[in-house]
Amino acid sequence: MRPSLSELFLAHDGRVSDKWEQYLAIYDRELARFRDAAGPVRLLEIGVQNGGSLELWSKYLPPGSSVVGMDIDPRCGALTFAGDITVLVGDAADPATLDRLLGDRGFDIIIDDGSHVSRDIIATFEACFPRLAPGGLFLIEDLHASYWASHGGGFRAEGAAVEWLKGLVDALHADHLEPTVDGAMRSGLLALNQQVARVAFYDSVAVVEKLPQVKAAPWRRIMGGMNAAVEDSLPILLPVAAARNEQVLLTPVRAESVNGARQSGVADADAERQRHAQAEARLAARVEELERSLADQAAVLQRLSTIEDSTIWRATAPYRRLMGLFGARRG
Ligand SMILES: C[S@@+](CC[C@H](N)C(=O)[O-])C[C@H]1O[C@@H](n2cnc3c(N)ncnc32)[C@H](O)[C@@H]1O
Repeated sequence: MRPSLSELFLAHDGRVSDKWEQYLAIYDRELARFRDAAGPVRLLEIGVQNGGSLELWSKYLPPGSSVVGMDIDPRCGALTFAGDITVLVGDAADPATLDRLLGDRGFDIIIDDGSHVSRDIIATFEACFPRLAPGGLFLIEDLHASYWASHGGGFRAEGAAVEWLKGLVDALHADHLEPTVDGAMRSGLLALNQQVARVAFYDSVAVVEKLPQVKAAPWRRIMGGMNAAVEDSLPILLPVAAARNEQVLLTPVRAESVNGARQSGVADADAERQRHAQAEARLAARVEELERSLADQAAVLQRLSTIEDSTIWRATAPYRRLMGLFGARRG
């Protein structure tokens, strides 16, 4: 088991390093997977000063790792180190300087412990984040300075680094923004959304983790399980997802359960159709029966009207009247 940064820091007797106490636990928590990596790790730290932190990173990371420090102060260029530690002199917020000093080098860990001026913090992130390897971590120290006017910040002040970093939380949700967020704001957030996996804030430290691969499409909704006893939201979810151009994934178990429900739905529909057909047949038979009866009655009426029109019927009319009188009297 390799030592923690806290252990190394407390035992450190080399060049001076200037940190806040809580950073040690934060680094141990965030960087443990790099410390324990099987292979070498590449680290860039902006802000060298006396070089103490570079020595600590070199001791902390696995053998063969490379540690690069960059500082705007030319005096740092005179520092010499044992092991794979390099110091470069230049402004880490300037992409042209970075290109000149670093070429196409990428890093697994980038730490900004530079000027702590809000404008520089944002520019350094924008310039250096593209150099962070997939799955890598970008850590920014001393963010309390973002609350100070002396460092270009202030409480919820426009341009303060913390306010800008809060925008990364918006970037994480960029796929879900209403259409009212548009233009450069939307495209900027979507671009970051493709790369940012996580943003964490500690007291004075922010950690931004890069996705292991560029996110080419929005995350899909995934549904598992068999039993939706309270509410099966799938029938509601599917049309909503289609309208929003979202995709819904069903786990094999869930898909099996949905297909089963569909099949029993089909069986129910078949039975219902059969019941309808039987009722229709009964109705048709009744209609036929009524039509036949009507036809019979029409034939009787026809016969009666033929009799009324006949000569003998007319000739016997007085006799029928007489019979009627008899009948009335009898009644
Ligand atoms: C707080 S110190 C670094 C401390 C060191 N990392 C440690 O833990 O001991 C900050 C350093 O950042 C350097 N610096 C300030 N602005 C910078 C910039 N734009 N690019 C690179 N380094 C910068 C300063 O010259 C200074 O040496």
